[in-house]
Amino acid sequence: MFFASDNTSGVPAQVLAAITDANAGYATPYGNDTIMDRVRTRVREVFAAPDAAVYLVATGTAANSLSCAICCPPWGAVFCHETAHIHVDECGAPEFYMGGGKLVLVPGAHGKMTPDALATSIAGTGGSVHGVQPAMVSVTNVTEVGSVYTPAEIAALTAAAGDLPCHLDGARFANALVATGATAAEMTWKAGIDVVSFGGTKNGLMGAEAVVIFDPAKAWEFELRRKRAGHLFSKHRYLSAQFDAYLKDDLWLTLAAQANAAGKRLADGMARIAGVKLLHPVQANMIFAQWPAGTHARLQAAGAVYYDMPAPDGFEAARLVTSWSTTDSDVDGFLAALHA
Ligand SMILES: Cc1ncc(COP(=O)(O)O)c(C=O)c1O
Repeated sequence: MFFASDNTSGVPAQVLAAITDANAGYATPYGNDTIMDRVRTRVREVFAAPDAAVYLVATGTAANSLSCAICCPPWGAVFCHETAHIHVDECGAPEFYMGGGKLVLVPGAHGKMTPDALATSIAGTGGSVHGVQPAMVSVTNVTEVGSVYTPAEIAALTAAAGDLPCHLDGARFANALVATGATAAEMTWKAGIDVVSFGGTKNGLMGAEAVVIFDPAKAWEFELRRKRAGHLFSKHRYLSAQFDAYLKDDLWLTLAAQANAAGKRLADGMARIAGVKLLHPVQANMIFAQWPAGTHARLQAAGAVYYDMPAPDGFEAARLVTSWSTTDSDVDGFLAALHA
């Protein structure tokens, strides 16, 4: 009953086997390995973007921060939702890598920016030498509260962004695609996204995230910044092998479908229990819920692991995340303990 995060899960056998296979013999370092050639080809096919630049880093924070850094100058503003991971959970890394770029927070229900709120924020920023200047937009999908933007919603945001480059934090990109049925191209460049953090770790990899850049003119700067940030791996083949296995035979989509199905089973079950309130639409693998005070102790005694959240007096709230390895019996055991 481990629902603390999807990155608490292990690594599927196919990925471990690919790492073991990659261990044989010698390979050229720094992303010049033959497995990475295959990864680049596979990622370009997945995104239907033959000219996309594809790079691997080890963490989502690096993927996001370096993506922001190639789009935003030190005097620039990055427009993002007020709950954005780049704002709440990256310890100022985006600002550090941008060398001064500032995050400007956009409100919106259920973790989503609206085009109007975004346009208002952009219009109210810059113009004089005294403030930061609008530079880029960053959108997260799946959002930090488990809701999912459709490609049409993303396209409406990028339209509101005008000429500003747009980044997608896709730490849970596979979950968003499975939830909407969209293709990777529809969710990104066809909807006006310029740079994607294409997550792997939360969906079963040991530690690898891709950055996909649709404008090849930005690629060299990314390479330099990645090296400067200490994120160019010398034994890169082990990152490559993870992504290669991830994309082979659509494993990434299979894993995300398992995580989303477990999320739905959990949310549907919770919605049927009196006194339990779901706080946001459950559209992928994250559930935010509120229940009467005293419930945490009972759930934790039963072996449930999750993060608790602030709640009004008399209540408790929790964030639960399912993963590719969540079993029906994990879910049903949690529901039984909650029901009791
Ligand atoms: C929305 C989102 N973006 C990015 C990340 C990447 O974080 P990390 O640097 O821990 O890999 C996370 C992880 O919690 C996340 O939830």
